[in-house]
Amino acid sequence: MIGLGGGSAMDMAKGIAFSAVNEGNIWDYVFGRKVGTSALPIILIPTTAGTGSEANRTAVFTNPETNDKKGLVNPLIYPKAAIIDPELMLTLPKRVIAGPGADVLFHALESYISKNATPFSEMLSLRAIELIAQNLPLVYEDVTNVAAWENVTLASSLAGMAIDCAGTTLPHALQHPMGGLLDVVHAEGIAAIYKPFMEYTWPAAPEKFAAIAKAMRSIRATWARNRRQKAVWRRFINS
Ligand SMILES: [Fe+2]
Repeated sequence: MIGLGGGSAMDMAKGIAFSAVNEGNIWDYVFGRKVGTSALPIILIPTTAGTGSEANRTAVFTNPETNDKKGLVNPLIYPKAAIIDPELMLTLPKRVIAGPGADVLFHALESYISKNATPFSEMLSLRAIELIAQNLPLVYEDVTNVAAWENVTLASSLAGMAIDCAGTTLPHALQHPMGGLLDVVHAEGIAAIYKPFMEYTWPAAPEKFAAIAKAMRSIRATWARNRRQKAVWRRFINS
């Protein structure tokens, strides 16, 4: 089963590969009422940078009958291979750069502060934060910047692996009912609640938020060398 596209297309491929082999309603497996036995082999080719689905065992579905939005999390749907080609990103519109790109940061941040984080997942999370902070504004400014896209797509996959190890936290849990009930775009729904989430959460893990800020501050060294990049960042934030 080949999934070519954004998160929804890749997760659909995972779902079809799983449903082709396991009988009954997939929601029984999503809610843990049944356990699968196998799945067709899956190859994923992302054409957006954000979901990280190409690097993990999660597939998120929306049930239009019940408005449930929830992930099937099952090792049977790990892709056998992922083809991550930055050149597939070169025609993305700005909204599909900014939203999924911010979702990379959300995945990395939430997996980093998760109580299930490990030294290995923390390493993945912090590297993803560094890469996305440095490179997302560059591709937002110039969609043809292949070198920056290489780093953004790498960050996306690293963050996808980090949530595979440590999971996400409150914002993703809150966004799922938002998406299921109101059809809100994933990253845009999360962005709407992120500031109060961080204000509420940081006192519980100040050392972790300090490390995140430090990883994002590594862009200051880049700014010192490149004033144009600083201007790019300002425009990205303001947009
Ligand atoms: Fe996400």
